[in-house]
Amino acid sequence: METDAKEEISVEYEAVDKDIFKDCSNIAFYRRQKQQLSKKSTYQALLDSVTIGKDSTNFQIINEATKVPLLTEVYGIEGNIFRLKINEKIPLKPRYEVPDVLTSKPSTVRLISCSRDTGSLELTNGKGDLKCHITANPFKVDLVSEEEVVMSINSLGQLYFEHLQIPLKERATKENEEDASVDTSQQNQEDLGLWEEKFGKYVDVKVNGPASIGLDFSLHGFEYLYGIPQHAESHQLKNTGDGDAYRLYNLDVYGYKINDKMGIYGSVPYLLAHKLGRTLGIFWLNSSETLVEINTEPAVKYSLTQMGTVAAKQKVRSRTNVHWMSESGIIDVFLLTGPTPSDVFKQYSSLTGTQAMPPLFSLGYHQCRWNYEDEHDVKAVDAGFDKHDIPYDVMWLDIEHTEGKRYFTWDKKRFPNPKRMQELLQNKKRKLVVISDPHIKIDPDYSVYAKAKEQGFFVKNHEGGDFEGVCWPGLSSYLDFTNPKVREWYSGLFAFSVYEGSTDILYIWNDMNEPSVFKGPELTMHKNAIHHGNWEHRELHNIYGFYQQMATAEGLIQRSKGKERPFVLTRSFFAGSQKYGAVWTGDNMAEWSYLKISIPMLLTLSITGISFCGADVGGFIGNPEAELLVRWYQAGAYQPFFRGHSTMNTKRREPWLFGEENTRLIRQAIRERYALLPYWYSLFYRAHVTSEPIMRPLWVEFPDELETFGVEDEYMLGSALLVHPVTEPKATVVDVFLPGSNEVWYDPKTFAHWEGACTVKIPVALDTIPVFQRGGSVVPMKTTIGKSTGWMTDIPYGLRVALSTESSAVGEFYLDDGHSFQYLHQKQFLHRKFSFCSGVLINSCADERGHYLSKCVVEQILVLGLKKQPSLVTMHSSDGKDKPVAFTYCAETSTLSLEKLSLNIGTDWKVYIK
Ligand code: NOJ
Repeated sequence: METDAKEEISVEYEAVDKDIFKDCSNIAFYRRQKQQLSKKSTYQALLDSVTIGKDSTNFQIINEATKVPLLTEVYGIEGNIFRLKINEKIPLKPRYEVPDVLTSKPSTVRLISCSRDTGSLELTNGKGDLKCHITANPFKVDLVSEEEVVMSINSLGQLYFEHLQIPLKERATKENEEDASVDTSQQNQEDLGLWEEKFGKYVDVKVNGPASIGLDFSLHGFEYLYGIPQHAESHQLKNTGDGDAYRLYNLDVYGYKINDKMGIYGSVPYLLAHKLGRTLGIFWLNSSETLVEINTEPAVKYSLTQMGTVAAKQKVRSRTNVHWMSESGIIDVFLLTGPTPSDVFKQYSSLTGTQAMPPLFSLGYHQCRWNYEDEHDVKAVDAGFDKHDIPYDVMWLDIEHTEGKRYFTWDKKRFPNPKRMQELLQNKKRKLVVISDPHIKIDPDYSVYAKAKEQGFFVKNHEGGDFEGVCWPGLSSYLDFTNPKVREWYSGLFAFSVYEGSTDILYIWNDMNEPSVFKGPELTMHKNAIHHGNWEHRELHNIYGFYQQMATAEGLIQRSKGKERPFVLTRSFFAGSQKYGAVWTGDNMAEWSYLKISIPMLLTLSITGISFCGADVGGFIGNPEAELLVRWYQAGAYQPFFRGHSTMNTKRREPWLFGEENTRLIRQAIRERYALLPYWYSLFYRAHVTSEPIMRPLWVEFPDELETFGVEDEYMLGSALLVHPVTEPKATVVDVFLPGSNEVWYDPKTFAHWEGACTVKIPVALDTIPVFQRGGSVVPMKTTIGKSTGWMTDIPYGLRVALSTESSAVGEFYLDDGHSFQYLHQKQFLHRKFSFCSGVLINSCADERGHYLSKCVVEQILVLGLKKQPSLVTMHSSDGKDKPVAFTYCAETSTLSLEKLSLNIGTDWKVYIK
């Protein structure tokens, strides 16, 4: 029985192709909005209804055709954010408003009305630098910053709001209640999918009828937009043509097509727009299926405007129109006004939170496969890393480690003694991650199922029974993570006393949480399934996976009594998922094109708050040739989440299985990752406290340089390193763009340097990872590598100082215990600042609140770009004495090297270079 089910499932799963998924033409609310908008009915703001309150300014708007009043609320939010909410004034029943994503109730700034007449109203945030100009008829909102209109809302008249209605059948008896906006003829009813929508063999019955919403935003002067993950697409958002849109609908798409706007595993309904001098963000807080159309109208240099008899030449600015459409919920949109990229990152994280500070081990290399067969296999793979002198931190177990895909259990034949296995890993200072999916096998003898069933913790079907769908274990029910009680209970399952065989080195991977339902429409849950609070699945589909990761992370924190940081990887995500752990890009393929697209995909996640992200190294599906695998390791070593993973039925591909030379190349790439761990960890801290992305598109670091705006084959890691992974087979040279007219860039291996604002041809051999250090930066590193991060605590540091054109440099370093919350609660951390100026390198405290004792020393200092040979180098440490330091200077490469130093990393000191 079990075997049959498995076979049937895998056949179903492998048959996944694009026909299973909808495109815009199959989406009824898209068709409705398009049809209705072509009729151009307008909305009018009733400005005599304005009330200006402490938190918000409210007024009604009304559609000239339906006459149904909508209530608009405008909020000023601290940090130069506006929020616009539009809901029905008196909905038939409450409409879904996304809970749990905003970290707290946003602090509002009182808006002041600065000008008002019958046709318009202008509100300011008090300081007067930001204004919101509301035009009554037709309804339009302009956002004005420093006297410049940066964004107009509804200027294209695409505001769309389907008010909840009494079902047709019930309505038939009531006169005068017919909705003028809706054509009720039978054929049209079907086409428009008002109460019922067909897709293939699936029928979506909509008890609440049509409820979709939409709104347009015109971004003046903007041609570059980014964001709205997740798509296997370019970093810069493309124009969407007719019948095309970026889809945000979390789906399990095995071997997803690349360069495609279809929805895959996660959704962050948030985009950024950038132009010279300003960055903006639009965060559309809606968790139902969402479509986004993008349309850039390029600048027309001069156009002729006829004003009476006078023809005037007028410059027309470019603009990009963004049209958001969601299936249900309300319009709740946050306008982040920047003006800089880092302001926008702060504004977004003030709403949704910053990247969780990860435990240090999780920045190491992760080894995964579907599946490591048994304890013996785990032991052998683990030993293989030591034998081949390759560092790694985490062994992963996929679904087969369980008893028949019953999560929280162990297959007793394969893993008879999970604690013993974890002890082995622990002795090597390594960790274990196991999978835990949201579907629960229907089996009354499975305690997780029985308890959830008894307490009514599963998502319900529309008839009131438990929703049942097929996934890995066969017929399953799905935990309703939207219910706080379910989350609390689920978190409790990770307690050491409850999760048999678990120890404190075991961490969690949440997969299939879109959720994936093999026999469901588009391989997911029926939209009319019912969640806690009687909400339909359609309202909250995109946030389901977010909730599972939230509950899992909470469970891991609780099992340690609040002491230890969790690590949870999730496949599905939503805005704010960064608070709970890491995300990966799902089932990619072992092909060069997938390696290449991993860069823009990760850049997009990074700028939308999710810094801890990665793609399966090697490609999940298929068998990579050795060269591809090597290149993928090299790219992965410079991406935040670094895990090798492969699907069933692929050839084994542990790093040492491709011959000695390739083993060496992979070893070298992984070792480069480990050498840079102090830099990585410091970047994660910055992401955690100041919301700066770790992997940064060039435009973020060089916002005033137009040439950077479209670059996506290279990126910055923090502000110091530029990485241009090789993503083409048999490459002998790569064209690397080094930005910045006043910058200098160094090759950290050859010490060669280039001036910025040029593209250089870099020769590449198979062992080349094109990485460049920006002049003006200090990168902290480790001087040698251990078996895992745990072995590297006491290894001395090296500082790589790359001098700017002004012969200066700055950098930071962050350190704590690497695993607990003491950095937060007891301020047990070290945050140091390095600065080099006028020949003096200074190590000083960057945050006086932090204290952490480290015996670790800076042993090496390498200064790149020092033009003159020094006559003397001395160090001055806190004991007040100056000591000479031995040095070597290479005139040919302009590098100074100081070795065998013993400068404590955590105390103040200076090194004088004379
Ligand atoms: C789908 C995931 O994307 C993949 O990484 C995993 O190996 C399989 N599910 C099996 O759990």
